Amino acid sequence: MLYHIVTYGCQMNVHESEKISFILEEMGYTFTEKREEADVIVFNTCAIREGAEERVFGNVGALKRLKKLRPSLIIAVCGCMTQKEETAKVFKQKFPFVDIILGTFNLHKIGQYINEAKNKKVFELWQEGSLDEEKGYNRTSGQNAWVNIMQGCDNFCTYCIVPYVRGREKSRSVENILKEVKDIVKSGKYNKITLLGQNVNSYGKDLSPKVTFSELLKLITSIEGDFKVGFMTSHPKDITDQLINEIATNDKILKEIHLPAQSGNNRILKLMNRKYTREHYLEIISKIKAKIPNVKITSDFIVGFPTETESEFLDTLSLVEQVKYDGIFAFMYSPREGTVAAKMEGQIPLEIKRQRVNKLLALEKKIQKEAN
Ligand code: SAH
Ligand code: SF4
Ligand code: F3S
Repeated sequence: MLYHIVTYGCQMNVHESEKISFILEEMGYTFTEKREEADVIVFNTCAIREGAEERVFGNVGALKRLKKLRPSLIIAVCGCMTQKEETAKVFKQKFPFVDIILGTFNLHKIGQYINEAKNKKVFELWQEGSLDEEKGYNRTSGQNAWVNIMQGCDNFCTYCIVPYVRGREKSRSVENILKEVKDIVKSGKYNKITLLGQNVNSYGKDLSPKVTFSELLKLITSIEGDFKVGFMTSHPKDITDQLINEIATNDKILKEIHLPAQSGNNRILKLMNRKYTREHYLEIISKIKAKIPNVKITSDFIVGFPTETESEFLDTLSLVEQVKYDGIFAFMYSPREGTVAAKMEGQIPLEIKRQRVNKLLALEKKIQKEAN
C-alpha cells in the first residue's frame, strides 16, 4: 500500500504532514514519489492567500482522472482551506471524487477516516480541539527537527485568516515539549530544533502557572546534548528585554530572528491591528542589534493593504532601507473572506500591488548586493 502527500503553506503544515506520514506508515502504508501509483493521496492545504488556494483547487481537480482510472484510490484534503466552511463546501460541490475532507483540529484522526473512506465519504470538520500528544512524527527535514509549541493565534491581524482556521492560541505543556525535545536529542539524528508557532513569543500566557517563552528556551537549552535551537514566528509586540537577553547570552540559541513588520507606516499598521508603531518596531530592532552581534533579522511585508497610498508604501521602503534585513518576504495583499480587511473600502488594484511588490523586492536585492 502506497501513499503520497502534497503539502502547501507554512512550516506548521510541513510539520503536520510529518504527523500524517507517521500515522499512515503506522497503518502499513509506504511513501511514494509518484501520485499515479499511490493508494492514498493527501493534500494538506493553505489558505493564507488566494494564489495558494487556486493552486490547490487546480491540483486537486487534476486528480479526477486518476480516480476514474482507479476508483479504489482514496483522496483526502485537509489543512487550513478545508477548515473554512466556504472552501470545504467548494471541495464537496466541485470535486465530488474527494473521499475525505477534514480540518486542522481533527487531523490526527486521518487514519481512522482513511479506513472509513473505503466504504463511504467522510466529511468531518471540528471547530476546536485539544492538542494531540499521542502520535509521533515522521521527520523529513534533514538534521532539523520541528517542534510545535503552540496552536492557533489570538492576534486577529485584520488581513489574516489564520485565527479563523487554527483557532485560539493554545500552548503545549512544558512537560510535553521537553519530553519531545529530549527524545529528539537522544535519537542523535538532529543538531537543530526549530520551535514552531504563529506567535512563539506569546507562548505560555494561557498556562497555569504562566511560563514565558524565554523561560521555555532556558529549559529546552538546559537539556544536555549538542544542538541549537531556533524559533518562528515572533511578533514584535511580544519581544521582551528578557527574551533578547536570553538569545544574546545562550550559546544554544541561534542568532536569527524572523520579526515580521508587515508595513512601515503607522496608519496602515493600525488598520492591520498589529499593535505596534514603526517607532516601537525600530526601537526593538536597535535593541536586538545592540545586544546580539551578527544577529540575522528577517521580515514579512504586505503591500497594497486597503487604502495604502503611494507615500505610505514609501514608508515601508524606508523601513526596509533603515533595518537592512538579512532577508524579507514580500506579499501582495490578498483579501480573505471573513476577515475585517476584506470588507474595507479602498481595495488596491492588482496592478499597483504588483508594482509595489516589485519595487520592494528590487530594494531588498540592492541592499543584499551592497551587504555582500
Ligand atoms: N504568524 C506569522 C505568520 C503568518 S502567515 C506572523 O504573524 O508573522 C505569513 C505571512 O503571510 C504574514 O507574515 C503576512 O506577511 C502574510 N500574509 C498573511 N495574510 C495575508 C494576506 N491576506 N495577504 C497577503 N499576505 C498575507
Ligand atoms: Fe495572522 Fe497576525 Fe496571527 Fe500572524 S499574528 S498568524 S499574521 S493573525
Ligand atoms: Fe497557510 Fe495555514 Fe500556515 S493558512 S500559512 S498553512 S497556518
